Amino acid sequence: MAAESRTKVEPITAIIVGAGHRAIIYGSYSKKHPDELKIVGVVDPDPIRRSRTANMFGLPDEAAYVDVEDLVRRSGKIADAAINGTMDSQHVPTTLPLLDAGYDVLLEKPIGTAQSEVLELLAGARKNGRKVMICHVLRYAPFYVEIRRRVAAGDIGDIISLQTVENVSYHHMAMGFVRGKWRSKASGGSSMLMSKCCHDLDLLAWMKGGIAPTAVSSFGGRSYFRAEKAPAGAGERCLDCAIEESCDYSAKKHYLEQKLWAPYLWPDYHLGVVPSMEERIESLRTDNPYGRCVWKCDNDVVDHQSVVVEFADGCTASHNMTGGTSKPCRAIHLIGTHGEIQGVMEDGYFVVRRPDPRAGHEYSEERVELKVSKDMHGGGDLRLVEDFIRVVRGEQPSISSTALEESIYGHLIGFAADRSMESRRIVGLETL
Ligand SMILES: NC(=O)c1ccc[n+]([C@@H]2O[C@H](COP(=O)([O-])OP(=O)(O)OC[C@H]3O[C@@H](n4cnc5c(N)ncnc54)[C@H](O)[C@@H]3O)[C@@H](O)[C@H]2O)c1
Repeated sequence: MAAESRTKVEPITAIIVGAGHRAIIYGSYSKKHPDELKIVGVVDPDPIRRSRTANMFGLPDEAAYVDVEDLVRRSGKIADAAINGTMDSQHVPTTLPLLDAGYDVLLEKPIGTAQSEVLELLAGARKNGRKVMICHVLRYAPFYVEIRRRVAAGDIGDIISLQTVENVSYHHMAMGFVRGKWRSKASGGSSMLMSKCCHDLDLLAWMKGGIAPTAVSSFGGRSYFRAEKAPAGAGERCLDCAIEESCDYSAKKHYLEQKLWAPYLWPDYHLGVVPSMEERIESLRTDNPYGRCVWKCDNDVVDHQSVVVEFADGCTASHNMTGGTSKPCRAIHLIGTHGEIQGVMEDGYFVVRRPDPRAGHEYSEERVELKVSKDMHGGGDLRLVEDFIRVVRGEQPSISSTALEESIYGHLIGFAADRSMESRRIVGLETL
């Protein structure tokens, strides 16, 4: 067909709800692919975030709204979809009105902060016939896509056991779960398992391809990031601390010298507000929560947790999360009736092993190399947006599709694990 006679496909339009670090990453897809995605509005109660986002995407003043109620009341449906990057406890309350107004929604994880909320959202999406996709971005990382593809193709037979591990590095742990927003349920809305590992629990469920989890047990606790573990001589804030030089958790080393985690530390950094070094020093010395000693914070989430799951077909799985490790990494090991797959995402390859009983052999091993991007969740963030666009257009989603109805089992495992850890009992899951 001649190029000029092809029908031009219009970009899908979207409104950003919660102009934080995450939503702006997803929205940035429109800059690279203006033919696929156009941002046409922003909703955020923070006036600076509203105006900077409007500026970034060239939006008129009237396309900026203080909350979703303001959007729905003033304009109703002005886009095909919404990209919801609000914080955990606002996910469901902000998405329900969007669904009622006719928007499809790309929603950050965790879906909600309780099982009842997640099921309420599912009912809202079904009632309105809308599509909701969850930002389980690891399903789009090439490492996991290739493993899932091989499992779905039957390469290792039926999975009878799975193990995943997430090692949250010392600097990530300190930023997110000791000093930062996700340090307590009161602050971030979620347990550490749900805010950090809903990805991994989703991967377990995804690899099982729709087989329901039936029971969960879990243990965990906060062993290290507590006041009595403070080394002798530790001060209240790192910049004036007598033992800063020898401390692995020094805010000076992490945030001034290595410049780690800038979008979390400095307000509106993701929207182009970059503080000077003098401002950073002053902030960490005085009132920035990220300048606090990690043993003297108001954190209450666990720093390690183990989860064991049973599935309806008898398969068992475990997930181990540990915060404070030297190397950040995610590992997976699937054992099937005809072989196994094992790898560490950050290493950029996995192996497929199969029994080989011939004389002189024990097993065969195939090494599968993948391109690994160190940022944006192994490159998954923007591939997720690409798939969301396909879904909104009514096209066939990819193998990774994180449709709400296919993303719930991992969350049910997580909520049940937290209940199990708290009650010290096995928690059974009802079939949905
Ligand atoms: N997919 C991932 O791997 C991943 C990684 C990190 C964080 N997250 C999740 O992304 C979400 C956002 O995290 P973040 O760090 O970008 O948050 P953020 O605090 O930077 O952004 C949240 C924004 O929502 C705005 N907001 C508050 N109330 C609102 C309301 N009622 N309506 C609209 N906007 C409102 C805030 O003003 C803020 O601008 C969290 O749920 C977090 O758990 C996901």
